[in-house]
Amino acid sequence: MGSRYVGLGYQSMRTFLGKLAVTSLLGGAAVLFSFSALANEAGMPGADVASGKKIFSEGKGDVPACLTCHGAGGWGMDALGAPRLAGIGFPYIVKELNDLAGGKRTPTGAGAVMPGFAAGLSPQDRRDVAAYVNTLSGPPDLSDLKALKDSGTTVGEKYLGQAIVKYGVLGKVSACQSCHGYNGRGAAPMFPVIGQQKYTYLVTQLNAWRDGSRANDPYSMMRITAHNLTDADIANVAAYLAMAPTTTFGNTITPETNRFSTGGWMEP
Ligand code: HEC
Ligand code: HEC
Repeated sequence: MGSRYVGLGYQSMRTFLGKLAVTSLLGGAAVLFSFSALANEAGMPGADVASGKKIFSEGKGDVPACLTCHGAGGWGMDALGAPRLAGIGFPYIVKELNDLAGGKRTPTGAGAVMPGFAAGLSPQDRRDVAAYVNTLSGPPDLSDLKALKDSGTTVGEKYLGQAIVKYGVLGKVSACQSCHGYNGRGAAPMFPVIGQQKYTYLVTQLNAWRDGSRANDPYSMMRITAHNLTDADIANVAAYLAMAPTTTFGNTITPETNRFSTGGWMEP
């Protein structure tokens, strides 16, 4: 099911790009404008955003409304260990829901409910809800690191985490931004947005990659990366990422998070 859509997306994108090459010879700003409009549509092929919104807000069958835990704006909740889903990447969310439903990602703790919820949705539902959460662009609702600290959670040092995000740890850990983009702002289709993700979720995932209990990363990229992180590194990097600005002066690109795979890497 999934692969059929990926194939369609790729084919239609190729056809579209072919047409674009011809039309752009005719030139003009109007062509550029219609390119971005169509590219967004082509980026979420076969997804019904309205149906996704309904699932997110009301649930479906036995599956509860996603907003109960992920928040109405899709920004997640530290108290529930629930991640931000808003705008972190359409193809990535589709992949995660499929992995959760198919037994490839088996969270423990608060997240242990997710495989059942994902499996309770059809592949089409997963695609629809992924498309909807990727359209959520309301104001950020970031982790409250001070409140977490006050309630006894270990919170790292942002400036130490920033060094790992930018430079890694020499000979041990690759710089996070080499794959996830500037301050973790994402690089679809493969690398999700990890900047402004919830603090507690970042910590649980980095631990899970490190101990191998989360193992659905293509080419073991995250298990290799997390292998040499210390507990302190994890707390520091999560503290920095949870609050990391997505742009700097003169570096204001907002990466596209709709773009789907063109290489079939999501296939089982
Ligand atoms: C009872 C609370 C709860 C509900 C309801 C819930 N989730 Fe989750 N969800 C979680 C938690 C907790 C996690 C973290 C899993 C982990 O630790 O790996 C999670 C993880 C996810 C992830 C992985 C995100 C990532 O960044 O990799 C996706 C996607 C997701 N949920 C989508 C949904 C959708 C869609 C719905 C509604 C159909 C939903 N969730 C309903 C609690 C919930
Ligand atoms: C070699 C490329 C690469 C590097 C370097 C890398 N990552 Fe990743 N990361 C990935 C990929 C690919 C995924 C998506 C895994 C999947 O498909 O489930 C990912 C996923 C994640 C996730 C899960 C996001 C979510 O929503 O569940 C976190 C957290 C994460 N990376 C943190 C980091 C941190 C912190 C660093 C730096 C210490 C880092 N990554 C460096 C490739 C990389």
